[in-house]
Amino acid sequence: MLTNNNHFKNFNIDQFYKNYLKGPKIFKNRNALEPSYIPDELPHRDKEIEEIAGKTACALRGDTPPNILCYGMTGTGKTATIRYVSQKIAQYTKTNKPWWIYINCSIISTPYRILAHIYNTIIGSEKIPPTGLPKDVIFKKLLGLLDYKVKDSICFLVLDEIDMIANERGGNEILYDLTRLDENLDSCRTSLIGISNKLKFKDSLDPRVISSLGKDHITFPVYNAKELGDILNIRAKVTFNNDVLKEGVISLCAALAAKEHGDARKALQLLRKAGEIAERTQNRMVSIEHVNKAQFELERDFTIDYIKGMPLQAQLVLTVIYLISKFNENRIIISGDVYEVYNELTNKVLGVRNLTRRRISDYINDLSLAGIITAEKRSMGKYGATKIIKLCDDIIFLRDILKSINKIKDLLDYRPILIQKNKIRINNNTFRKLN
Ligand SMILES: Nc1ncnc2c1ncn2[C@@H]1O[C@H](COP(=O)(O)OP(=O)(O)O)[C@@H](O)[C@H]1O
Ligand SMILES: [Mg+2]
Repeated sequence: MLTNNNHFKNFNIDQFYKNYLKGPKIFKNRNALEPSYIPDELPHRDKEIEEIAGKTACALRGDTPPNILCYGMTGTGKTATIRYVSQKIAQYTKTNKPWWIYINCSIISTPYRILAHIYNTIIGSEKIPPTGLPKDVIFKKLLGLLDYKVKDSICFLVLDEIDMIANERGGNEILYDLTRLDENLDSCRTSLIGISNKLKFKDSLDPRVISSLGKDHITFPVYNAKELGDILNIRAKVTFNNDVLKEGVISLCAALAAKEHGDARKALQLLRKAGEIAERTQNRMVSIEHVNKAQFELERDFTIDYIKGMPLQAQLVLTVIYLISKFNENRIIISGDVYEVYNELTNKVLGVRNLTRRRISDYINDLSLAGIITAEKRSMGKYGATKIIKLCDDIIFLRDILKSINKIKDLLDYRPILIQKNKIRINNNTFRKLN
């Protein structure tokens, strides 16, 4: 038997598992909180379900539904609603079932890969390689396959997060081609359903695409706290054992998510994390403290992912703020300091060019919007305006994240000249101060 009898460690994994199995059981079905789970009902989406059902019902009689565009902020139930309607339609067709090809454009974003994905999904194997064939060859192959396999049925092409492809090279062209597939098909008919998180997505579309895709659109409004509470209550019944949620838990999750533009995904994540924390700490019930802790942990996870995913230049700007804060805790950091130290740091990283003050200022704004720093604008009278910059999270937490970035990790002990008491910089040259 494998045991953890390493004397240098205090954590006893055997005891941990024994306690875990003996401990209280919070979850009945944890999977019901996974993003891929499709609930049996979608409260507060009646109007949207009705509209989509109305537009797609003709597929039941073999007619071609119009192309549809769905808009709404993240977590407003767009993906869930389309998946829900597709399941329902399937229940009401005995023969000639419509096909549903689902494409997440944040993952599959190039025209080539979209066509290859549609082809491979219909045929049921990776027949088209990830690169290599000319696009028009795949296109012809796809038309042939649609007529051969889908025959005289309808094929719904769901382009989720469609906003991710409009700005890609060839994005408008592929959208145009996909909206016009029917003109080149003999028996099969297709209908495109685009889902966008960005309301301004249409601005980036070619007028030809708008005229065939954007005629019918459905907007998903954000949920308020009461609606999120209803969604959570129903989901909690399938997810948690009876009576494990203390009073106020659901309403707190709903209220916190309502503040974040009514994002149902956020509300469900909070509830799940709170349940996991209760379980981890061997509590029999999920309490308000667990929700607060969950909120704190989710924010930290967000900060870590956000910083790791930022462009290197933005990571450098943050490193500058970190270094000034580290070596001079009491200094009031102004935007001018950031530009100065940024110029020192870019010399130390291979292949990085110096950005303008303007771009650095944009990155400072982005960091502030993401809640990683605060950047308060302050007027300096006749000297114009500056920003007073402060870190939001604790500095050790930030150091750990920056340490995990290869190009940044060696900069974290660099002492900026600005802070070295015996040196000054004039016109990009460093001089020793005369005492
Ligand atoms: N009305 C609703 N009822 C039940 N669950 C919902 C509802 N709206 C959204 N959800 C859930 O919230 C999460 C996010 O919804 P999703 O459809 O992915 O949002 P979007 O695609 O708009 O970003 C999913 O887990 C989904 O099941
Ligand atoms: Mg979605």
